[in-house]
Amino acid sequence: MSQLAINGGTPVRTEPYPAWPEVGERDAAAVADVVLRGQIGGWPEPGPRSAEFAERFAGYQGARHGIVMANGTVTMEVALKALGIGWGDEVIVPALTFAATAYAAIAAGALPVIVDVEAERWTIDPDAVEAAITPRTAAIMPVHLGQQMADMDRLAAIADRRGLAIVEDCAHAHGQQWAGQGAGCIGRFGSFSHQSSKILTSGEGGTLLTSDDELARRAHSIIDCGRPKDDAGAELTFGANYRLGELNCALLCTQLDRFEEQRAQRERGARLFEELVAGVPGVRINPIHPQITRWSFYRYVLRIDPEAFAGAGCERVADALKAEGVPAEVQYPPMSRYDLFQPHLSRLPVCVEYADRLDPAHMSFPIAESAGEREALYLQESIFRAGRRGLEDAITAITKVREHAHELAAVSA
Ligand SMILES: Cc1ncc(COP(=O)(O)O)c(C=O)c1O
Repeated sequence: MSQLAINGGTPVRTEPYPAWPEVGERDAAAVADVVLRGQIGGWPEPGPRSAEFAERFAGYQGARHGIVMANGTVTMEVALKALGIGWGDEVIVPALTFAATAYAAIAAGALPVIVDVEAERWTIDPDAVEAAITPRTAAIMPVHLGQQMADMDRLAAIADRRGLAIVEDCAHAHGQQWAGQGAGCIGRFGSFSHQSSKILTSGEGGTLLTSDDELARRAHSIIDCGRPKDDAGAELTFGANYRLGELNCALLCTQLDRFEEQRAQRERGARLFEELVAGVPGVRINPIHPQITRWSFYRYVLRIDPEAFAGAGCERVADALKAEGVPAEVQYPPMSRYDLFQPHLSRLPVCVEYADRLDPAHMSFPIAESAGEREALYLQESIFRAGRRGLEDAITAITKVREHAHELAAVSA
């Protein structure tokens, strides 16, 4: 008889993990207040709730300015445009991330140059970045993936030495700090997503952080159809409507009220999880960089040994865990396999000069490919808000799936 729930066995856990986002009367009242006051959209930009959230969130992370906009993809596009990066420029991005990071470079008119990630932590490899720099390189866009941060010491040193801008993709990293500096406050810009699954959410939305007054002004102008934001009204930029409505901004304000407590709860959960999972066969923890001084995450990334799971890759293991009642997933394929970057969609290889570098058929990212297709298991943040019992259930399910992994091979065949 099958043991695994994916094959009809009894699941380890039937009680749901805590729902996300946490909402209540305060959120409803904040939205109602915006409705009753009448300014529900994002214009004039910034609206009162947008300005309030921007100031508070920038303060929490440690930047001088926040610019709130439609999502965490246009944030990166706007950052590049505000930096004057576009046609003919190259932007270096990691091979293990969501499509948005590379897409944003394309949307700004630049060419994304994809490089492999580090073996130990699966964030962008500074050596690969250095090797990919050409006279056209204008920016590096590191992604703070899962519970990790990219090596900002090495990347900042490279950027300084080679005269490049850094735009941090912090879609997973609200609350993280590197050597006392908030994520998104080390590069020229930091980009955050507030899409519904993210740990600071209003359903949709994004925030750019910067401590540069001039860049902040330009970003505000770009998202507001190019309207001048300088006092003289003289500065014109080329922009469109990327504003976020006040209803969403009201939710961002109430969600920010809860954020630090939720972050601390996840951190406590993750530290206990690491104690409990140590020594469990078949899974490993990627070491957290010692420079991370405040820890926060959206997904907790665990490394599985496919051999211990009878050769099943992370996707089958994630499916099996989900069936056991544990919210696990495979987040991203490596960039070389991403549909979006296949030539007929991106049309990037039409740039003859770049054909080899931009055609996924010519790309090889051994570490990102192994992580994305075989080893990287993403555990949802809710597991870390479910107390000791929730963590133990997750570990029991991992052990059960490993012990009965031969059943997975049968399903996959
Ligand atoms: C790493 C990363 N970057 C960027 C984004 C884009 O954010 P949004 O969905 O708000 O556009 C996401 C969202 O899933 C992400 O995970």
